[in-house]
Amino acid sequence: MRIELPRYAERFGAVLFHDLQKVYELDGGMLVDEAFSNPFHVIQQIPLERLHEIEKDLVIVIPVRNERLRLLEGILSGIPHACLPLIISNSQTMPIDRFRMERQAVDTFCRYAKKNYVMAHQQSPELAGLFQSAGYHALLNEEGLIRNGKAEGMIAGLLLARLLGKKYIGFVDADNYFPGAVFEYVRIFTAGLSQSSSRYSMVRIQWHSKPKISGNGLFFAKWGRVSRITNSFLNRFISQYTGFETDVIKTGNAGEHALSMDLALQLEYSAGFSVETNHFVNMFEQYGGIHGNGAAVEAMQAGVNLYQIESRNPHLHDGKEDGHLEEMIESSLSVLYHTPLCPELLRHEILEELQRLNILKNGQEPALPHRYPALAGIDFDKVVKQFDLEKHSNF
Ligand code: GDP
Ligand code: CO
Repeated sequence: MRIELPRYAERFGAVLFHDLQKVYELDGGMLVDEAFSNPFHVIQQIPLERLHEIEKDLVIVIPVRNERLRLLEGILSGIPHACLPLIISNSQTMPIDRFRMERQAVDTFCRYAKKNYVMAHQQSPELAGLFQSAGYHALLNEEGLIRNGKAEGMIAGLLLARLLGKKYIGFVDADNYFPGAVFEYVRIFTAGLSQSSSRYSMVRIQWHSKPKISGNGLFFAKWGRVSRITNSFLNRFISQYTGFETDVIKTGNAGEHALSMDLALQLEYSAGFSVETNHFVNMFEQYGGIHGNGAAVEAMQAGVNLYQIESRNPHLHDGKEDGHLEEMIESSLSVLYHTPLCPELLRHEILEELQRLNILKNGQEPALPHRYPALAGIDFDKVVKQFDLEKHSNF
């Protein structure tokens, strides 16, 4: 792969927020061109072997809820062979057992392709049992099962990925129409992760565009309404601390992202549409160095790298979000509003924005989404003994 070097970065405590990088060639060729080692070159060539090395340690979590089977199969076909797909499905089992249909489709596909996979239902008592024995009760509902929601499915995927001993974890939605785009996302994940000299790193994808039907043609929109607002407020947060205006954050709502396991286990999570934005807020909290270093001493020393990379493929998914734009805006801004680090001025601006959009009335505050602690404290060796891999996979 040939991509731009991360040239400009905004430092916030121990975190380096790198500005957007562009992909030049999805396949950069077999031979490494020595010209790229010239320090004045702005492009880097990441050797295929290096990408493969990371792929072997990379789990791709695919959260699914009642998506078309055809789409799910397309996603699997786009994931490089060396990565392990981990499907966490919260699809209905009654009256029609969609989960069973998904399982059959995935199993058949992976048998033909000779592809390894792991698959579990979010409501399975066995999966909940892993969290129970981990002493991580926040994720469980009154019935002792894992709560509904994509964020909750992602956390379940994270625990399984850790139990499988993987070093990296990436997330790809199941409602993507283009397997080629999925393939590109995973390549971008590995290219991004390969750049970090620290064990704490994250890569987020900025979609090239999102095609929409408009009038009698296609319109390739660059910024959605929600991301425009989220990014602007995250940037204002940084600006108010540093005193310098910035637009470095461009992926405040990016669903497609990957992390090193060390970082993923240390972050705290938030439910609903705020899960992505909360990654940033929690990095400000844990690594910003504003309220002391807390528990994250090691990461503070090593530094945390956040990379944002622009995909070449347009993103076309089932446009379900149009119905809940307002909820997405409220949840995204809410995690920023409620962090103790949020400057009073910014809090005021968030309220003004939410009132202007008629999301909140005068005197109301954004609802605080459910929060989940970091998984880092779990005794994984104890939990792993209970995990029946055979039942969920086709290794
Ligand atoms: P949007 O892209 O933000 O509009 O959100 P989607 O509705 O497309 O959801 C993103 C992904 O999460 C899709 O692959 C969904 O199938 C999946 N998803 C949604 N809800 C749940 C859930 O409760 N559990 C799991 N495991 N996946 C979910
Ligand atoms: Co979607």
